[in-house]
Amino acid sequence: GDRVVGAPSILAADFANLAEEVRRVEAGGAELVHFDVMDNHFVPNLSVGPAVAAALVASTDLPVDAHLQVMRPDSLIPALVEAGVASIQVQPESTPHLHRTLEAIKNAGLDAGCALSPTMSPSVLEYAWPYLDYVNVMSVSPGFGGQAFIPEMVGKVRRLREMTDLPIQVDGGITEETAPLMVAAGARVLVAGSAVFRGDRAARMRGIVEAGEGA
Ligand code: DX5
Ligand code: ZN
Repeated sequence: GDRVVGAPSILAADFANLAEEVRRVEAGGAELVHFDVMDNHFVPNLSVGPAVAAALVASTDLPVDAHLQVMRPDSLIPALVEAGVASIQVQPESTPHLHRTLEAIKNAGLDAGCALSPTMSPSVLEYAWPYLDYVNVMSVSPGFGGQAFIPEMVGKVRRLREMTDLPIQVDGGITEETAPLMVAAGARVLVAGSAVFRGDRAARMRGIVEAGEGA
């Protein structure tokens, strides 16, 4: 099947050994590092921010993709740009002026994306397409790793594929079992956290990418 991109979510990694964790998934063919930023307001969890992003960027040649799960993300964008991330994605409902947010990301020279929570319709993107480089279809509610895959999101990926040729990411509950369903529906980038960062990380990363490519 089509080539897919493995994007390990470091939310599930050992934070005391991030550089080593990234080397392991790189050995398993990871091509993009997924970096979840959470503020305990937009989602009921707190993760990491620009300082850790900068440390991560310094520890790998892979591009780092920041997934902002924060209220009013605009004020965080300059520090993440400074940290050296390659792309920033935001949740449309987290910002009162999505056009302004996407423009701030694009004007900094980064790729811009939107992440759609499970019940968010793709129609919210109707006037945002000119400012987007990718879309993330979340297959769990944002906030935590290790949640159950929401099967209705397969159809949502299929619907989005009819609307755009931009890369579609999927994020949440992605495993060797769910990856092929999402790739067959049109996903190109597989974000996976808890299914990767346990046991042999390289083998798990490779297993998910190969399962996706077998779709
Ligand atoms: C959830 C995050 C995900 C999370 C995925 O808010 O967006 O990136 O790390 O974790 P798994 O793969 O365990 O569902
Ligand atoms: Zn994420």
